[in-house]
Amino acid sequence: MKHIDIRKLFETAEQFVGKQVTVCGWVRTARDSKNVAFIELNDGTCLANIQIIIDKESEIDLKDATMSGTSLCVSGTLVASERNGYEITCESLTVLGTCAPDYPLQKKRHSPEFLRTIPHLRVRTRYFEALFAVRDQLAHSIHEYFHKNGYRYVQPPIITGSDCEGAGEMFRVTTHGWKSDFETEEEYYENDFFGKKAGLTVSAQLEGEMAAMGLGKIYTFGPTFRAEHSNTVRHAAEFWHVEPEVCFTDINELIEIIEDFIKYIIKDVLDNCPDEMKFFDTWVEKGLIEKLNGVISSDFVKLDYTEAIKILETCGKEFKYSAKWGDDLQTEHEKYLTDEHFKKPVFVVNYPKDIKSFYMKQNPDGKTVAATDLLVPGIGEIIGGSEREADLDKLLAAMNAKGMDLSSYGNYIDTRRYGSVEHSGFGLGFERALMYLTGVSNIRDTLLFPRTVGSL
Ligand code: 4AD
Ligand code: MG
Repeated sequence: MKHIDIRKLFETAEQFVGKQVTVCGWVRTARDSKNVAFIELNDGTCLANIQIIIDKESEIDLKDATMSGTSLCVSGTLVASERNGYEITCESLTVLGTCAPDYPLQKKRHSPEFLRTIPHLRVRTRYFEALFAVRDQLAHSIHEYFHKNGYRYVQPPIITGSDCEGAGEMFRVTTHGWKSDFETEEEYYENDFFGKKAGLTVSAQLEGEMAAMGLGKIYTFGPTFRAEHSNTVRHAAEFWHVEPEVCFTDINELIEIIEDFIKYIIKDVLDNCPDEMKFFDTWVEKGLIEKLNGVISSDFVKLDYTEAIKILETCGKEFKYSAKWGDDLQTEHEKYLTDEHFKKPVFVVNYPKDIKSFYMKQNPDGKTVAATDLLVPGIGEIIGGSEREADLDKLLAAMNAKGMDLSSYGNYIDTRRYGSVEHSGFGLGFERALMYLTGVSNIRDTLLFPRTVGSL
């Protein structure tokens, strides 16, 4: 159908004023006066609707055309209007699809909770249009950052035999159910599709490290799956994960890269989604744009884990779980550090080795590893990263100490035998970054069709 996107129409309106244009879209709202009808039409290409004006004395048949949700194709003359910028005086109108009267988006505003019950329709609201516009831009900005800085974009497998985080949160991939004729679990897996136990990736890091150990600087950007039973506003069972891996780079250089990267993507989204970001600033988090501009122009805090524990122990605040050296930071602790104490993004560095993964570089103190989490106000952790243990013996010792089955990690271990190098990497939760950028407080609203425990 020959037509123009409403976004394109607004962007290049001047050249169309007084001329015939054709647009398609869904009716957001319609109203009537004695002589004219007004239809607000939206095609999803931009937040703004185009107003269609219909002379009721004309031949145009308005039957079925004014119900919210109806899809239309409209031709008419584009005119400049003081109130709306531009509108179309309708000359012909075709109903593409009528809308049943039980269409749930009749009102102007609905709560995110209600909209979560209709994921297939919520993309027709301003809130979700704005969100998916920013999501699209953010993905673009991320790719652009890495491309400009010489990283190779690699696509790791989604089905894998090794659990990167070792947290036992892998979804199993299988083609057959349990059969009682298998004597052991091993026998069962041997008879499965891959001849061994397989699952969906919880992180592409290990494959990323192996790729970097030849390509130098790589990043992955793909879906990640975790069978976590955490029913929180920050956890999804399927999320998108950005994981760069950089050779010849230590933890301090990694932290510089992360800060540069975060500032770049925030600025790029602000520059490219002004209308959407204004929408979130007005409706979701007042002061959002100012906050993000502040983040771009200030230095992030770099704080030793041990120092963080001291702050939490002596700040005088009552926590549900008191902070203790050796324990992971609870959400309430992270929140205190970012929202109350520093009021800006904080890198916590050098965590106790016992609460972190096997692949992290062991510090000379024998107690901590060169790991960092980036915590941001309002959300908490958006990035987990580390310098990797490049020393073969130390790596093997850590794996053995954690009781890992080394036979599933043979290739990975090889990289420490064949020209091992200092290297570092991190993982950014794409949806968490989107929450931070938009002020949206529930991860379920950042995913097209969210998957969380008990909900598919
Ligand atoms: O801290 P995590 O577990 O680190 C890793 O997986 C490393 N292998 C990354 C690396 O160094 N390449 O996860 C990284 C990030 C977290 O900081 C968080 O933002 C996000 O992934 N994340 C989740 N996001 C949504 N839902 C979940 N269930 C998430 N689990 C982690
Ligand atoms: Mg983490």
